[in-house]
Amino acid sequence: MTHFSYTDKANKQGDILVVPVFDKPGDAAVSRMVDDRLGGAVAHAVNTDQNFKGKAGQTLVVPAPADSGYKKLILLGLGSGKAMDSLRAETIGGKLHGAVSATGMARVTVLADDFRGDTASLAADLANGFLLKSYRFDKHKSNAPAAPAYNIDIIQDNPCPARERFDQLAPVSAGAFLARDLANEPPNVLNPETMALRVLSSVTPLGVSVEVVREDDMKAQGMGAFLAVGQGSNAERRPRMVVLRYNGTGDEKSRPLALVGKGLTFDTGGLSLKQNMSNMKFDMGGAAAVAGTMAALAGRKAKVDVVAILGLARNDIGPDAYCVDDIVTAMNGKTIDIQNTDAEGRLVLADCLTYVQRHFKPHTVIDLATLTGACKAALGSTMCGVFSNDNRLSKRIQNSGVKVGERSWPLPLGEEFTKAIKGTYSDLVNVGAGAPGASTAAAFLQEFIEGATKWAHLDIAGVANGVSGHATMPDKIGTGFGVRLLNQLIIDHFEKKPKAQPTPALKAQ
Ligand code: BES
Ligand code: MN
Ligand code: ZN
Repeated sequence: MTHFSYTDKANKQGDILVVPVFDKPGDAAVSRMVDDRLGGAVAHAVNTDQNFKGKAGQTLVVPAPADSGYKKLILLGLGSGKAMDSLRAETIGGKLHGAVSATGMARVTVLADDFRGDTASLAADLANGFLLKSYRFDKHKSNAPAAPAYNIDIIQDNPCPARERFDQLAPVSAGAFLARDLANEPPNVLNPETMALRVLSSVTPLGVSVEVVREDDMKAQGMGAFLAVGQGSNAERRPRMVVLRYNGTGDEKSRPLALVGKGLTFDTGGLSLKQNMSNMKFDMGGAAAVAGTMAALAGRKAKVDVVAILGLARNDIGPDAYCVDDIVTAMNGKTIDIQNTDAEGRLVLADCLTYVQRHFKPHTVIDLATLTGACKAALGSTMCGVFSNDNRLSKRIQNSGVKVGERSWPLPLGEEFTKAIKGTYSDLVNVGAGAPGASTAAAFLQEFIEGATKWAHLDIAGVANGVSGHATMPDKIGTGFGVRLLNQLIIDHFEKKPKAQPTPALKAQ
């Protein structure tokens, strides 16, 4: 656990004093002022260490002066004073976590009185970056050392605005942590049923309503594509669809935004068995991100109406598993020839997309899915693919993602991909012949978008796990990618802005 306090009174003692330094340390008013109090220790450290230039996120750990009340000083590079923005402050906070954790100490004071910008907001972003990077998943280690209980004091002349900003950020980070926790859990712990129950118990207390739809209901609704994927699983791993609703506007009749997540708690490939299925527990990363987003929105009381669908199943092998050459009928009546049981995500999503549009009439649908190895091959692990029938929506997703360090890159839909998924015996085939895999998968999903519904599909196969060296994401394990992106997109474009307060002058009239 990490605890942050925002205060105007620096504790005169602790383990570590963090002194922010701009990239021309000599010019930095903040360090000069502070340095007088520290007997010139900062200037001395900067002059002695040739490598420390105050670049953004660069740190230098030196012993603190004996009479300072601290054991160590950490000089924390802020980069140049000009380009300081929220993402950079967060990145620096993530780097600070690295330096602090290496000391093994826990009581930290950060002098955050001047970041040459919206200092209050940037201080909160820095704290949030520290928080995001502090994530651990050690619960299945029998001898893991306890996570350090960090106590971080953020010092500001007027600490209230920073605390208020942090109170908006922390629920979003909690949402990302929920997504990471779900994703990292092994498949013998997390199956469709246990995942549904965990999501339910995590988000219900926040004010999200949760309905778990079971197979009988799904059958009655004609969800033959989704059910086919889960039909080979044993009794404790049967498919589930979770419907989450968050009504933050108070308007019960407004059309919602819809989020849909692929939630394969494990993907063996089915009878088209995968050669290497290590890490396929992360095939529920889309559903985890969607659940985390709902937690984030409810946690910070966002003024927006969102419905979310988690398509939860296992893609297993066995006598009852669906078979290559099977023809199944989706909820919208389209028939699908199964030519590869490993192209299962699109089948689950197809019925979730129909379901959410028929039941909730959303104006916009955004789905997240670890859908194709092709997308990972194309874009690597620093950005996801974005496909959309609405260029403005696609651009908005890209721009909002940049702000929070969850980037996406546009990939095409089009006639050639749609053609490649037309069936010989059926309306559709679940794999596209001779066309790029990420685009044919997206074109398949597009077959399930109705009328004028705006839609975007994020293929997160490359970013849901296996990232390395990111400032605020953990290495290797589940990243929670998507929570912060969707939350930022909603802030930027879907959330009702609070009414501007009338100015005192107007009020008086
Ligand atoms: N879950 C996989 C996609 C995936 C691959 C995610 C690697 C993360 C890392 C998906 O269900 C899948 O198997 N897709 C196939 C589709 C193919 C059979 C058309 C793929 O990408 O190979
Ligand atoms: Mn698969
Ligand atoms: Zn899959």
